Amino acid sequence: MIVIAIGDIIGRPGRRAVAELLPALKKQYQPDLVVANGENAAGGFGLSLDTANELLDTGINVLTSGNHIWAQREIIPYLDSEMSIVRPLNYPPGVPGRGYIDTGAAVVVNLMGRTFMADIDCPFRAMDALLPTLDSRPVIVDFHAEATSEKMAMGRYLDGRVSAVLGTHTHVATADTQVLPGGTAYVSDIGMAGPVNSIIGDDNRAVIQRFLTGMPVRLTVAKGRAMLNAVVIEIDDESGRAVSIKRIYEEEA
Ligand SMILES: [Fe+2]
Ligand SMILES: [Fe+2]
Repeated sequence: MIVIAIGDIIGRPGRRAVAELLPALKKQYQPDLVVANGENAAGGFGLSLDTANELLDTGINVLTSGNHIWAQREIIPYLDSEMSIVRPLNYPPGVPGRGYIDTGAAVVVNLMGRTFMADIDCPFRAMDALLPTLDSRPVIVDFHAEATSEKMAMGRYLDGRVSAVLGTHTHVATADTQVLPGGTAYVSDIGMAGPVNSIIGDDNRAVIQRFLTGMPVRLTVAKGRAMLNAVVIEIDDESGRAVSIKRIYEEEA
């Protein structure tokens, strides 16, 4: 099977880039599954009902998320609905929503790191608990984490047990796409769908002011032409092992 995974989609420019560029990518690669991280899709923070529906209408099959999933409160009741949205699996028990979804073609899991992030449950042990409960479908993991070392550790830890470990959250694509020895496709960060002239998607001036003053200057999504970062993964249907992973960088016309 072929999977396309898109990094964090940032506000309107990110949604526009997905709407403009995903149809051609789908035509070219004929994916069985399209996964994208939607945690910044609504004005840079969270996922609203409208933005979620808009993205699912572009041909994304599963929206993953991360630390900003609670930012738009209106989405919270829908996390337990039929909508194809997942939040990190390793939030403590009792939190709304689900940490994985079975699309029929594959199981998509969302996990969140703990290094330089909120101190939630252990993502490694959360996977140890989940994997024996799943059937033999390919498992695709979106590991939403800050530290490349934690991401790489997860890739190595799950190597041979899942089909892909794909990093999100930093919004900066890394050049370390590889199939690990056990057959797990890996990248430390897919990157983003968001404005090129920005600081990880946000307006340059506001972010620089934050660094200069240490004050909580309000961040806004930057304007202008957007890029789309994604990976295309080929998975052997029989074994569930990844055959290849390739980076994609596109820009709006
Ligand atoms: Fe993000
Ligand atoms: Fe994040």
